[in-house]
Amino acid sequence: MNTLTILGLETSCDETAAAVVRGYPPGPGEILSNVVFSQTEAHAPYGGVVPEIASRAHLEILDGLIEKALGDAGIFWNEIDAIAATAGPGLIGGVMVGLTTAKALALASGKPLVAVNHLAGHALTARLTDGVDFPFLLLLVSGGHCQLLAAADVGKYRLYGTTMDDAVGEAFDKTAKILGLPYPGGPNVESHAARGNPRAYPLPRPLLGRAGTDFSFSGLKTAVRQLVTQNQVNIEDACASFQAAAIDILRDRTAHALTRFREEFAHAARPTLVVAGGVAANAAIGSALAKLADQHGFEIRVPPPRYCTDNAAMIAWAGLERFALGERDPLDFSPKARWPLDASGDNRHSGERQQGA
Ligand code: KG4
Ligand code: ZN
Repeated sequence: MNTLTILGLETSCDETAAAVVRGYPPGPGEILSNVVFSQTEAHAPYGGVVPEIASRAHLEILDGLIEKALGDAGIFWNEIDAIAATAGPGLIGGVMVGLTTAKALALASGKPLVAVNHLAGHALTARLTDGVDFPFLLLLVSGGHCQLLAAADVGKYRLYGTTMDDAVGEAFDKTAKILGLPYPGGPNVESHAARGNPRAYPLPRPLLGRAGTDFSFSGLKTAVRQLVTQNQVNIEDACASFQAAAIDILRDRTAHALTRFREEFAHAARPTLVVAGGVAANAAIGSALAKLADQHGFEIRVPPPRYCTDNAAMIAWAGLERFALGERDPLDFSPKARWPLDASGDNRHSGERQQGA
């Protein structure tokens, strides 16, 4: 079996990224380079991602990042087997920049194009970093998504549950904004929470104790807003109380999904819970879920934070997985603002990001 070397591009939100990854399924793969330019500063004055600013910034910087990714990897262009780019879901202007660049490179070089679902990138990261075997239970927690899925194979996902309103990362970001903490909110809320009292303020935990695997975070966010408008709050205690509520919600819904996965994939010898997406970088969430997985007899895999937040190594790897199966895409492949992993499932919050989210 020959290893494959893939160039990956990611431009679906506010990170512009290029990476070169080498390996073969099931992984782990070798990350030869991983260049990420975060546009945080450009969006910070607006308290959220502004789509027009994002696409212009991707356009300005992507060429240079690709050169750097190839240079850092220390490889020649002729060693690249295929070019993978995020083709959705995400902010459509940004997706178009990355996908069109990948098409141009493919056309000029004669190398194949693989159009990658950004969510599959997050989903398959644990194979890139840890070589996790299928099937596994995936908790995908990011700024645009909060889903539980069974990952049965490359491209085969069964949706267990999704959020009925906000994504969990969005709840972190909005809480930060309400509390006057700088964008991006997640890491700031986490660091303040570490110094606060999680029992200082009673906050609601929507759907807790109810059957099923769906999520809801908007009631929690609204309660934080009310708390702040009606009281003089201690920021650290508010962050700790919010994060404790978010953890309780994630733990409760994931527990139901672990039970369902056990029933549906009874043959899985060592069932694994994979936590992916930007919110997986949160250490308090990670350790709560590790304890839960252990109680249910599951292994847990949480990729290192730099591969949990948006990056191109995960896109290169997801492209590699499909390319290894003989899959590739035509140069007229259309970018998609919405693109659920499980097209048959109910995907209420499955793609488009909102401005300021
Ligand atoms: O996966 P990602 O980089 O982009 C999306 O595809 O959404 O996730 C970004 C989200 C943001 O909402 C950010 O606030 C959140 O992940 N996030 C965190 C942490 N680091 C990033 N949330 C909580 N705690 C963190 N440490
Ligand atoms: Zn993402």
